[in-house]
Amino acid sequence: MRIAMTRKIPAVAEEILKELGDVDVWPEQLPPSPEKLLELASGRDGLVTTLNDRIDGAFLDQVPEVKVVSNFAVGFDNIDVDACTQRGVAVCITPDVLTDTTADFAFALLMAAARRVSESHQSIPKGEWKTWEPLGYLGQDVHGATLGIVGMGRIGVAMAKRASGFGMPVIYSDMNRNEHAEQELGVEYVEFNDLLQRSDFVSVHTPLTPQTRGLFGAAQFQAMKESAVLINTARGPVVDTDALVEALQSGEIWGAGLDVTDPEPLPADHPLLSIDRAVICPHIASASETTRSRMAQLAAENVKAVLTKTTPPRCLNPEVLSSD
Ligand code: DGY
Repeated sequence: MRIAMTRKIPAVAEEILKELGDVDVWPEQLPPSPEKLLELASGRDGLVTTLNDRIDGAFLDQVPEVKVVSNFAVGFDNIDVDACTQRGVAVCITPDVLTDTTADFAFALLMAAARRVSESHQSIPKGEWKTWEPLGYLGQDVHGATLGIVGMGRIGVAMAKRASGFGMPVIYSDMNRNEHAEQELGVEYVEFNDLLQRSDFVSVHTPLTPQTRGLFGAAQFQAMKESAVLINTARGPVVDTDALVEALQSGEIWGAGLDVTDPEPLPADHPLLSIDRAVICPHIASASETTRSRMAQLAAENVKAVLTKTTPPRCLNPEVLSSD
């Protein structure tokens, strides 16, 4: 067997995959270019990819030996799953193992944005801490505030659980009702526009699909409270970045906590970075030592299972497995 990994990920993945045969790992810090990706994937039976790698029909047609694409992520908007299915290629992902770590981080961003943690910290090395200030860095209360969750899947549910400890009423919108979450956690299903109008914090937990691309634009920011804070740990393009910059600059919304942006990476001179009330991190919500190791293990187990013709733990198109 020949396997390629398009980035260096925790060592456990290579340990598992080496039992199957040769493993080549892209050694550089930056992801491979499309041309280099093609070279790396050529003649491989399996690939461990990341969200930086675009996998589509044109790519797969040039690497016909590939039987499995195992994304080191729960999101898979970088992969054309239909194109994989049509070519009998299994697509696997790493859900569950990152749910709590990602929700922890979404809540950290919520608190950091609401209470101006990053902005006030940055003022100190600038020499701006002259005295205790009665009117300095006034933020938004988190406890008791209404949290609107867009997308009540695994991570949305984990976010709702965290909010309950802060006495936050939780409302949510989604394409499908999550009645289990409604019964277990007392969350209330509302229409998207209703959520925008009622929420003090809006947290995005929806995958990037044609339906969710640009879900937050000028009209949605206008509908939100002037005191509202937007949190996004899902995918950058769910939010129209220019509209967000405008909404923050004009005071249509109060703040933002973003782990994902559009574009990614965000250029160092991007206008978002000059907005004090926007807390921005470089797509690190799942980045704990334990969770990234679990993701690596699951990504490798997915490849191993497909190539040894057993059932992969997390496959998006299992129909390609039975057609072997
Ligand atoms: C994912 O898993 O989709 C994240 O964006 C990276 O952990």
